[in-house]
Amino acid sequence: MQTMVTLPAAARLRGRNVLSVTDLGSDELGGLLALAQTLKARGREQMTLLRGKTLVMLFEKPSLRTRVSFEAGMTQLGGHAIAATGGDFGIGTRETPEDAARALSRYGDAIVYRTHAHEPLVRFAGAATVPTINALSEAGHPCQAFADLLTIRERFGTLQGLRLAFVGDARNNVAVSLAEAAAMSGMTITFAAPPTHRPTDAFLGKLIKLGAQHGVTARAFTSPIRAVRDVDVVYTDVWTSMGDEQFVERNLAALRPYQVNAELMGAAAKHSLFMHCLPAHRGQEVTDEVIDGPRSVVFEQAENRLHAQKALLLALLTDLRGLTE
Ligand code: CP
Ligand code: NVA
Repeated sequence: MQTMVTLPAAARLRGRNVLSVTDLGSDELGGLLALAQTLKARGREQMTLLRGKTLVMLFEKPSLRTRVSFEAGMTQLGGHAIAATGGDFGIGTRETPEDAARALSRYGDAIVYRTHAHEPLVRFAGAATVPTINALSEAGHPCQAFADLLTIRERFGTLQGLRLAFVGDARNNVAVSLAEAAAMSGMTITFAAPPTHRPTDAFLGKLIKLGAQHGVTARAFTSPIRAVRDVDVVYTDVWTSMGDEQFVERNLAALRPYQVNAELMGAAAKHSLFMHCLPAHRGQEVTDEVIDGPRSVVFEQAENRLHAQKALLLALLTDLRGLTE
């Protein structure tokens, strides 16, 4: 029944690119999450909705969860996934993003691409004739955000009205996509970051605009205690993202006061969740006590990558009617 209700919004995604969370409307995001919940309830049931379909996956950076969850998802939906990594291809060195996109569109029904910079991804998607999905770029990680919102919704039964704090490198890809998705879903967002890692005013303005449609707002604090006070969700990510390794020492020095530890979690609501996209640098952005503690849902998040991406693949590649038959 739930699937029937959400089909119209999620079905509008067919044939589209998903390079950022805001490529979806709020209702489409809600529909996608509801579809993911329905698929999760069906477990590892083998489906044939993507029989004969091929997903091409390009990874310029390492990946464990994204690569394996997309491949497992395609298998469970009756299709197939092929991955090419770093040395196998050379977008921007061996050939242009456009030429790679035109060639790969002849083989695959959709393309998942993890890049360093965002601009080649935009050029690639512009030339591809099949849907392109951002599997992480410097500008965002939408697939992670879909799984994270699914996780929060499962735990609280709703997203509207919840409060989420992101602590640490509040300019990074995970923070950006998470905050956009949260604002679009009616969640209040606070960031805790030093001035060097604080969201730009332009980005905060974008969030405030997105949230205003749902009666919520976004704010940045330098004090971590202030940002997490009474929130429902505390989220952090690594202090240095892939490709930024030259800034490790600077980030360690600037972000050390932003570690999520038992003391900081003590300032959040008693029922609050701890979230992290993984991989985690234990002892840096989060302590073992917190990530292994009872409020941590990091492996639910990892599992939900699978369900959210299966929903995304079905929405991009089918009319979703097969789900109600
Ligand atoms: N969270 C996430 O995207 O993990 P991977 O880098 O392992 O894919
Ligand atoms: N911000 C991290 C996320 C990894 C999934 C990175 O880009 O390395």
